[in-house]
This record gives sequence, structure tokens and C-alpha cells, in this order.
Amino acid sequence: MALRKIIVEGHPTLRKKSRPVEKFDDRLATLIDDMKETLVDANGVGLAAPQVAILRRICIVDNGEELLELVNPEIIEQSGEQDGLEGCLSVPDKYGRVKRPNYVKIKAQDRHGVWHEYEGTELVARCFCHEIEHLDGHLYTEKAYHMLTDEEYEALFTDDEEDA
Ligand code: NI
Repeated sequence: MALRKIIVEGHPTLRKKSRPVEKFDDRLATLIDDMKETLVDANGVGLAAPQVAILRRICIVDNGEELLELVNPEIIEQSGEQDGLEGCLSVPDKYGRVKRPNYVKIKAQDRHGVWHEYEGTELVARCFCHEIEHLDGHLYTEKAYHMLTDEEYEALFTDDEEDA
């Protein structure tokens, strides 16, 4: 396994639409393992293949229990609403407020091509939406109704330190 470089906002690849995965081969398995390692190394909760400059429909989501490998993922059900802070490994040092469904059900293939369904609420539901949007060339900053100012961002981390 190897760490992949995470590209950041401004890189044109992040704005392109990813193609479906059709070959479930060793190359795919290596990419998925590398993405998992890269996500853990970056302390993130989700990572999509375009963020490592690969335009294929693959993302990894940490649901709190395991790192889900999502190949050709699609949202099949959603309900409710949540309003909260969102960030992205490709938009470093920024956070924005984004409204999302509070419950999301998806279907996705694994590295062998087998379909599974996964459900998530709150952060996991948010992450499913965020990562799948990456596959269509979208960043959360387009959906954020408020991006935190430098002062608000600083305050966020000052509060965190006091809580720790
Ligand atoms: Ni992201």
C-alpha cells in the first residue's frame, strides 16, 4: 500500500465527472487500499478518488465502525434535514455550513463487484452525500450557505482546545 497525494481546490480534476468502474481487478484493489491508507493518514472521514486525481467512481467513508469501500455508489433513499459544519481534505483549513438530509441510504459495489446497501444518519449521511458529489465534480463549497470567516474558524479551534 502507498499514500496518494491529495489534490486541492483549484486543481481542474476536482471539477470533472468520474467514470464508472467496470473492471474489478487487482489495480482497483490497490487503489482502494491506497485510498484507505491515505484517508487514515489525513485524519479524514471520507475520501473520493478524484481527490487523489483518479476520475473513477470510488469513495471511502468511515462510518465509525469500518472504512466502507464504495464503488459506483448511488443514493437510493434520503429523508429529514440536518444543518452543520462541513470540511473537505481538498479544501484545507476551511469549513462551511451546509444543509443535508439527516438519513441517507446508498447502494454501492465492493472491490469484487458485489452490490451492498448502507444506511447512515448525521455525520455518515453527510459524508455519503459529500463524497458522491465529488464523483460528479462538485465541492461542498458550492452548497455551503455560509463559509466560516477566519475569526469563526479560529474560535472553533480555541473552543476545541478548551474542551480537550
Ligand atoms: Ni471532500
